[in-house]
Amino acid sequence: MCGIVAYIGKKEAYPILIKGLHRLEYRGYDSAGVALLNEGKLTVYKCKGKVSELEKFTEGKSKAGTIAIGHTRWATHGVPNDVNAHPHYSESKNMVIIHNGIIENYASIKAQLVKSGHTFLSDTDTEVLIHLIENIQLVENVKLGDAVRLALNQVIGAYAIAIMSKTNPDELIVAKKGSPLVIGIGVDEYFVASDATPIVEYTKNVVYLEDEEIAFIPRKGELKIKTIKNRQKTPYIQELEIQLEAIEKGGFPHFMLKEIYEQPRSIKDSMRGRLSASKGAVKLGGIAEYEQKFLNAKRIIFIACGTSWHAGLVGEYLFEDLTRIPVEVEYASEFRYRNPIIYEDDVVIAISQSGETADTLAAIELAKSKGATIIGICNVVGSSIARATHAGSYTHAGPEIGVASTKAFTAQVTVLTLMALHIANLKGTIPSSRFQQLVSEIEAIPEKVEKVLATNDQIKYIAGIYKNATNALYLGRGFTFPVALEGALKLKEISYIHAEGYPAAEMKHGPIALIDEEMPVFVIATKGASYEKVVSNIQEVKARKGKIIAIVTEGDEQVKEMADYTIEIPETDEILVPLVSAIPLQLLSYHIAVMRGCNIDQPRNLAKSVTVE
Ligand code: M6R
Repeated sequence: MCGIVAYIGKKEAYPILIKGLHRLEYRGYDSAGVALLNEGKLTVYKCKGKVSELEKFTEGKSKAGTIAIGHTRWATHGVPNDVNAHPHYSESKNMVIIHNGIIENYASIKAQLVKSGHTFLSDTDTEVLIHLIENIQLVENVKLGDAVRLALNQVIGAYAIAIMSKTNPDELIVAKKGSPLVIGIGVDEYFVASDATPIVEYTKNVVYLEDEEIAFIPRKGELKIKTIKNRQKTPYIQELEIQLEAIEKGGFPHFMLKEIYEQPRSIKDSMRGRLSASKGAVKLGGIAEYEQKFLNAKRIIFIACGTSWHAGLVGEYLFEDLTRIPVEVEYASEFRYRNPIIYEDDVVIAISQSGETADTLAAIELAKSKGATIIGICNVVGSSIARATHAGSYTHAGPEIGVASTKAFTAQVTVLTLMALHIANLKGTIPSSRFQQLVSEIEAIPEKVEKVLATNDQIKYIAGIYKNATNALYLGRGFTFPVALEGALKLKEISYIHAEGYPAAEMKHGPIALIDEEMPVFVIATKGASYEKVVSNIQEVKARKGKIIAIVTEGDEQVKEMADYTIEIPETDEILVPLVSAIPLQLLSYHIAVMRGCNIDQPRNLAKSVTVE
């Protein structure tokens, strides 16, 4: 994880770096730091805590410099403290580095360097890398760029790095492998960042560095790229599509709330140009050339983590129901290490908002090496996962900044629904009348989501009643079981209340023992095949004095009579209920967390983009 940002040009770098670090704080917020090079003097400011702490720390100090690097950290090697914060100096203190990733063989390199007299100040793997680079430069008597290249050939692991040296005051050196890195090209100035958000307000022209590439960024003149094997590359300049407004709060107190409220639009955007109720067709250009692979597939495997894994579970219900292709849903972190059986005619669908999740990327590479077809469902355009897959469909939900995933989930489920519908239509596994009906129903979803958002005040009231709970249970069945898991995850991650999601019927095999008059049980009890069964499960909770908060279909009277509180959602086809029923649970978690005084957009210990395994 971690966010890196750098600048070289004519402007004062510090304000650009600080703004960029704020935008990248979603990647980690254990510590922050900057290094500035001005008139031959290299200054490092760094401290534990958020970027705002760094700003306080630098108040009244000189921050001059037109070449600089900055970092916001999610701790891996070494506790979050001032010393372990980046940037890190080399042995001579003539150069500095910032790093996102993990140098896996840092311990053996460090041991050798210690033997040759190096002293380390921090516990980080990053400090070892900059010492190694300087050591190579001295021992081999090579230029800094060559020393970086030679060092990167020795390291195992992942990195996005930026290096600045007193002896090269007009050049930044950056490199990447496994962690993302974007270079923004301005007029006589360059910007570097972990993603495009710190860059977008200055320039739309960017180069996404590929794995094992090093870029030499001059103060003036052209950017040069070579691989760590010393092969020259021509920079491929792309135009950014994101708008500045999309990465700002737009009047909302938190990004999470803004993103919850964006869902009528983001769901529409994920369908835009892909669906035509009048023509009764679904078009997914990104996978058009791979349709035959789906038609021949004996199995579909979803790989993902966290919320994206929950979307994969919805995908399982959708694909099995509509396409009759057997589906498995795998945690990427388990899949990659358990010697899984993968066939060449498997279609593996990797789901990821960020497109950078390390475990998902590694699982993709494994499945690819066995000859499977890999389809991506990513939100971030040009991300590592999007590039590693054979084909895919973007979710087009727009930047998601809040660490708790909301609009990305509904966009993923929307794309999965379209994909399953399209394949079912091609395979002829659903009658065309059912296809037409679902196409019309899905087009109506944004409006239904809008209606759910209008119940916010009622949801806030319910949140006020349960804000002090210490445990909570979430129950669902069929298509709403993954929504129960997602509801529980949302509550856990932002309010720090222990919560469990369960298939409603599974409750009596253990969790029912937890139920007492203190325990809120959130049940998705919408109309559908399992409705009566869920009603019975609610009775079982009531009989043990549990508190029932039910998400019900508009007009439902039966559950209303049994539940302590109900939240009505508009009626839709059962397979589309996840898209509508997820919304009240997101709002509920949001309000509970606000009432408990939690940090909504940056919950403790978490980061938005999990680029370490
Ligand atoms: O970027 P990805 O979708 O690959 O991220 C996967 C998980 O890290 C992510 O969904 C995480 O669980 C969220 N914080 C949940 O809100």
